[in-house]
Amino acid sequence: MPNSPTKAAQLVWDEQNHPYSSQFNDHYYSLVDGIEETRHVFIEGNDLAERWREMKSYQSFKIMETGFGSGLNFLSTWQLWKRLGMEKTNKLHFVSIEAFPMDVVQLKKSMLNWQSQLSMFSSQLLEKYPKLDKGTHTINFEDDNVVLTLIFGDVRAVMPELNFSIDDSVNAWFLDGFSPSKNPEMWQNDLYTEMYRLSAPLASVATYTVAGLVRRGLVSTGFQIDRRPGFGTKRDMLTASKISR
Ligand SMILES: C[S@@+](CC[C@H](N)C(=O)[O-])C[C@H]1O[C@@H](n2cnc3c(N)ncnc32)[C@H](O)[C@@H]1O
Repeated sequence: MPNSPTKAAQLVWDEQNHPYSSQFNDHYYSLVDGIEETRHVFIEGNDLAERWREMKSYQSFKIMETGFGSGLNFLSTWQLWKRLGMEKTNKLHFVSIEAFPMDVVQLKKSMLNWQSQLSMFSSQLLEKYPKLDKGTHTINFEDDNVVLTLIFGDVRAVMPELNFSIDDSVNAWFLDGFSPSKNPEMWQNDLYTEMYRLSAPLASVATYTVAGLVRRGLVSTGFQIDRRPGFGTKRDMLTASKISR
């Protein structure tokens, strides 16, 4: 049912107001430093700054994320886009799929942690954040040519329904479910098959996990994987790029 409410996130909070999922028994981001983890794993893991500096006028860039969570990845990505002073003719399209979204009160609380760095972005997101109805919610941040498409639903049901034209396909993936051992249903082989189908040639992938099932899934569907140093307590992280078959 397209407009039925989705199941909201079940959270507990630590003393620093960091959200923890009581449903998945996992943290939303590294407690070492959430913003730095986002920058290291997802932004640098996809070489976003380098690639955006090379964008030509009228080009768009599409990112797809599995697990919007607290929106930290989206806000940090938007911040970089603005900081680089991207041309008005360039567009950033950030698509994020989330099965158990935070409500606006939870989102506001989690953003208290990033007030000093991200408040000019989080305040705009909070103003436009949709009700938790299943389906697609498109939010336009016109001043910066940024569009956020939030899809409230399970990646396993949502991704097979998506279709992008060749010049509107995904340039970079943020694979950010909870850890594969706690959230195995999100990291199944169908995910990588759908990623390959929705990806532009040479699309990149970044994730904090190097779990064997993720590596094997990416490789078997046509991604070439690489390890980079991980963030915080993690020794390694994974990047990948689409190779043509
Ligand atoms: C590690 S958190 C994401 C953190 C987030 N990217 C951020 O910036 O805060 C993982 C997210 O994946 C979501 N999730 C778990 N299983 C899912 C599924 N099958 N489909 C879509 N989202 C899922 C969870 O609800 C949670 O919000």
